[in-house]
Amino acid sequence: MKPVTYFLLLSLLGATGCKNNPRQNETAEASALSVKVSDYGQTVEGPAKLYTLTNSKGIQVEITNYGGIITRLLAPDKNGQFADVVLGFDKLEDYLQNNSPYFGAIIGRFGNRIAKGAFSIDGQQYALAINNAPNTLHGGAAGFDKHLWQAREIGREGYAGLELNRTSPDMEEGFPGNLNATVRYLLNDDNELLIEYEATTDKATIINLTNHAYFNLKGAGNGDILGHELMIAASRFTPVDSTLIPTGELRPVAGTPFDFKNPTPIGARINAGDEQLRLGRGYDHNFVLDKSGQGLELAASAFEPTSGRFLEVLTTEPGIQFYCGNFLDGSTVGKGGVKHEYRTGFCLETQHFPDSPNQPGFPATVLRPGEKFASKTVYRFSVKE
Ligand code: GLA
Repeated sequence: MKPVTYFLLLSLLGATGCKNNPRQNETAEASALSVKVSDYGQTVEGPAKLYTLTNSKGIQVEITNYGGIITRLLAPDKNGQFADVVLGFDKLEDYLQNNSPYFGAIIGRFGNRIAKGAFSIDGQQYALAINNAPNTLHGGAAGFDKHLWQAREIGREGYAGLELNRTSPDMEEGFPGNLNATVRYLLNDDNELLIEYEATTDKATIINLTNHAYFNLKGAGNGDILGHELMIAASRFTPVDSTLIPTGELRPVAGTPFDFKNPTPIGARINAGDEQLRLGRGYDHNFVLDKSGQGLELAASAFEPTSGRFLEVLTTEPGIQFYCGNFLDGSTVGKGGVKHEYRTGFCLETQHFPDSPNQPGFPATVLRPGEKFASKTVYRFSVKE
């Protein structure tokens, strides 16, 4: 090739690169994505760290490797004012007290309830710790929320990332198999917090992983959540018995206070005298998402009109537990000394359905050796008028 042709070709390539290469922008933005680590205190399993993921829009997510807890999440309102929109505590000791109602934590091995802590796989019976009599709740007495995870920052283009890993030993809390679990928290410049869950086992077991963040889009500590306009993309929900175990029925939401297909304030029908609302003490139910496939799809959204904050939840999971803080009663003191009062936070826990191991009609939650459990959820923050 003649030198001049070579030069022309190079400059052509260069020009194209400058104008059309979308990666140029990505790289510029990516440089604003960061992960910072600091000491968070001592646990019986070792020192805990606090990781701060930041994006170029100023969103910050603080996560500790104790329980994988999201301790703080700063999101802007319609005037650009940031507030911490997740409930929790100011310091590690408060989480270690063992009276946190799972604020912001990773839930495992099995999210929500398993009736009487009993299930069987291939004819083999298992008995789990009963920590929510008469049932097992959120993995038993010391679930994934109460352990220290191995943590490392991860580089992925367009994201600030933290990877947590933990091997739950065979028969921990009564669950069979050494279960190796990985959870990744990834923040991007579209104000999306992506959570990836993965797990493998060396014995047939059951699994249902989620995150138990409590949101208040007015800002944690700023009153109740009843004015949030909630949408859940679900035509059916799973009604429960008096111990909050699903009856097995997939009941249509149409004509009930469980119809959130169109955005509706959480408080609009909460006192409607509905039997299911009475049993749940309010909303504390699994919704059967109207999914069209296995990919990430919009599952729910919440809009808080006074701040303009808008949260969208996308997931690959078939269900979502909508819980509106009915058990919060002011007995724990949160950030800035503000008590966690009744219904001051709501959870949208993406999941397989509660008690699936005992419900043949529900999507299966069995994980076998050689298989890989994988699930994704996105919490996306924006503002609306
Ligand atoms: C879940 C359950 C609720 C309650 C909370 C934690 O959302 O469904 O019943 O146990 O966790 O307090």
